[in-house]
Amino acid sequence: MEASEKEEISVEDEAIDKNIFRDCNKIAFYRRQKQWLSKKSTYQALLESVTTDEDSTRFQIINEASKVPLLAEIYGIEGNIFRLKINEETPLKPRFEVPDVLTSKPSTVRLISCSGDTGSLILADGKGDLKCHITANPFKVDLVSEEEVVLSINSLGQLYFEHLQILHKQRAAKENEEEASVDTSQKNQEDLGLWEEKFGKFVDIKANGPSSIGLDFSLHGFEHLYGIPQHAESHQLKNTGDGDAYRLYNLDVYGYQIYDKMGIYGSVPYLLAHKLGRTIGIFWLNASETLVEINTEPAVEYTLTQMGPVAAKQKVRSRTHVHWMSESGIIDVFLLTGPTPSDVFKQYSYLTGTQAMPPLFSLGYHQCRWNYEDEQDVKAVDAGFDEHDIPYDAMWLDIEHTEGKRYFTWDKNRFPNPKKMQELLRSKKRKLVVISDPHIKIDPDYSVYVKAKDQGFFVKNQEGEDFEGVCWPGLSSYLDFTNPKVREWYSSLFAFPVYQGSTDILFIWNDMNEPSVFRGPEQTMQKNAVHHGNWEHRELHNIYGFYHQMATAEGLIQRSKGKERPFVLTRSFFAGSQKYGAVWTGDNTAEWSNLKISIPMLLTLSITGISFCGADIGGFIGNPETELLVRWYQAGAYQPFFRGHATMNTKRREPWLFGEEHTRLIREAIRERYGLLPYWYSLFYHAHVASQPVMRPLWVEFPDELKTFHMEDEYMLGNALLVHPVTEPKATTVDVFLPGSNEVWYDYKTFAHWEGGCTVKIPVALDTIPVFQRGGSVVPIKPTVGKSTGWMTESSYGLQVALSTKGSSVGELYLDDGHSFQYLHQKQFLHRKFSFCSSVLINSSADQRGHYPSKCVVEQILVLGFRKEPSSVTTHSSDGKDQPVAFTYCAKTSTLSLEKLSLNIATDWEVRII
Ligand code: NOJ
Repeated sequence: MEASEKEEISVEDEAIDKNIFRDCNKIAFYRRQKQWLSKKSTYQALLESVTTDEDSTRFQIINEASKVPLLAEIYGIEGNIFRLKINEETPLKPRFEVPDVLTSKPSTVRLISCSGDTGSLILADGKGDLKCHITANPFKVDLVSEEEVVLSINSLGQLYFEHLQILHKQRAAKENEEEASVDTSQKNQEDLGLWEEKFGKFVDIKANGPSSIGLDFSLHGFEHLYGIPQHAESHQLKNTGDGDAYRLYNLDVYGYQIYDKMGIYGSVPYLLAHKLGRTIGIFWLNASETLVEINTEPAVEYTLTQMGPVAAKQKVRSRTHVHWMSESGIIDVFLLTGPTPSDVFKQYSYLTGTQAMPPLFSLGYHQCRWNYEDEQDVKAVDAGFDEHDIPYDAMWLDIEHTEGKRYFTWDKNRFPNPKKMQELLRSKKRKLVVISDPHIKIDPDYSVYVKAKDQGFFVKNQEGEDFEGVCWPGLSSYLDFTNPKVREWYSSLFAFPVYQGSTDILFIWNDMNEPSVFRGPEQTMQKNAVHHGNWEHRELHNIYGFYHQMATAEGLIQRSKGKERPFVLTRSFFAGSQKYGAVWTGDNTAEWSNLKISIPMLLTLSITGISFCGADIGGFIGNPETELLVRWYQAGAYQPFFRGHATMNTKRREPWLFGEEHTRLIREAIRERYGLLPYWYSLFYHAHVASQPVMRPLWVEFPDELKTFHMEDEYMLGNALLVHPVTEPKATTVDVFLPGSNEVWYDYKTFAHWEGGCTVKIPVALDTIPVFQRGGSVVPIKPTVGKSTGWMTESSYGLQVALSTKGSSVGELYLDDGHSFQYLHQKQFLHRKFSFCSSVLINSSADQRGHYPSKCVVEQILVLGFRKEPSSVTTHSSDGKDQPVAFTYCAKTSTLSLEKLSLNIATDWEVRII
């Protein structure tokens, strides 16, 4: 290891130093907006300027002080979405509008303008149940649904728009300059960071001057808000105090502090609000640094004494104010009107895309560490899994596998024969995932560097030269993924002949793509670095990692000539990253508190479109005590992306290093994951085609149950399983809330059952993972687990049927080849539906378009909650044949068990119980 590398690694080894990062009060645009808003200067809409075309309705708005005209555009979008754009009418130069996030130009619906009284305008969608009421002075927009105001925009008058100005020096030279919109005295200019902003030793020179924007939204009757990842925070958003806004600014924060609103690796500027009877979403499409303030005013009851002798009572609904502020760009905001959580998920994915359908292997267990040292190490760890009978699917290699952190290369001493190593893994039906970061070592002998440099593919500094910053390889330049040509070229680097030593079982991990720049301001890139199209980094900082993963995923697709699904894990992300793969929560710590917070962090990602998410099992930093490691495996087995990972200087922690008993416990947890893979895969298909998150907070499944609205220590996997991981040391019981007064819940393993609507105390031993199946669901499983998903494709299915209080159940199974796009292009898939009603279980097609020649059979059916012992059970196949089936019945648990069946999964059949 070179000295410089050692030095850099030790930078990351320190515990988090919060002084490296700015809090709100150190952010100039925050201070500017606060100062300005205290002056309460208002905007007015000039409704006489209204024009309407096919797509949108436009009008001017003007601030009484600055008099600079802004142009507002309102669009109605298919699926009950409204879009409001506000930009300068004639900016000095174009302002940045985020490209590439919306999957296509959203289809608009024509809004009909109904006459408001003078001073207002009403726009209605075709059906007329959603309306936008625009009030001219002061400017305000109310979103009205069935005569109820759901949300108001700018009712607090926090609309803020810094118009672009000519450089202050030139302006100062001009006489009779127009009154600036903010106080521009020298001292105040410095404080407000208009043209220059200092942070420690860093100075941000702003060639375009101040350009920030802001707007408030009042959500009527809403007290529960969620979303705007990524923060190591509770699932339900908290009220923000002074200087304590949620920050969306992608940063590399090693060992991030938990329960903190500081920005970490990724940003999705999208939040959801929920109340009884309605869920809505606000998607703020802006990629510059963004701050979000939340302030809930609870409901109050007034007594109106002036009403005469009888005091009248009046209730004022609760409301929550959301204040968005961004450093630059335009106001471009989408209002998703629901009304159900499921509708909001669909509306959001209509705009940004759904979760990519993952290759099946990627839902298995991943084994990672910084670093698996060499080929022998890989071989030994791989063998360890077989020796200990623990399934796993992918071995991971961190940065040390490369020649001096030159991505797309191999360290010749440690990995002299990467193809042979991959052949070994392939023979075990396993995969390899290697890292590829966005920084490129400055080295005239490194072909990736030379080619990128020659083509001008790096981000530039102010002087127009390649930006240089320090990262793992030492001095590096950073690929400008915002340039489509750079993405195309980067994608081509994954072609098998180009990426020497790679094979089709190699997949990719994108890290450090916030981007991380050691010794840079807040460990990232200067905001005045310059990207393709001459845009400053400040405009698009939060979308850099999104583009990196996009180019990588595209590369993996192209190397297979469009045939194979990619798998790419990214640390940094933005709205829409779900289209390109998986996300993890970065450098967490081996502490119980970090295990606990992984649940709300993943729930938040899940409801903002990113279903394929996970946290490093065991905690990346530090050495977990054995009990914590076991509990973390148990929790991780029920989280979407399931990878063990640890940093360099930690003790080795492969699952078998903690004594036989703990090996058994970890084995059991991982095997439970594999047993449930048919269910996981079906859930991912559902996320992919129907936009529903895989991991769901309870409020999503039980939107009418107030008690669930803040819950984050338990959650639903799909709609059938409730999981309450143990996240406390030495736990002997956990309190599990089982929602739904008409529901019945079954312990997933013991089959004990409870009525819903109550909290139950569940005894837990070290081998207990509290999982409950909802009555009314059918969960497809694989009763026999193999060495990896690849060993299980032909193995039989089981169905766990949990009866509702009414004695019925439904469920689904999706299957395909697990790796290609044939499910999409050739409709090679099976989508089956299982329904149990009146003691008959029916397997039928859920989607006639799909065909897949599976020979797999259902060999086992368990019916939970079956009240009386049957006298006979027969199977009835579509060719008319009836066959008796042997069964066992356990009266104590009311469980009927059918074994040794041989019912083809792909054909229609019935099981009749008499
Ligand atoms: C930071 C990542 O978060 C971590 O997972 C990785 O091991 C190191 N970088 C080294 O690549």
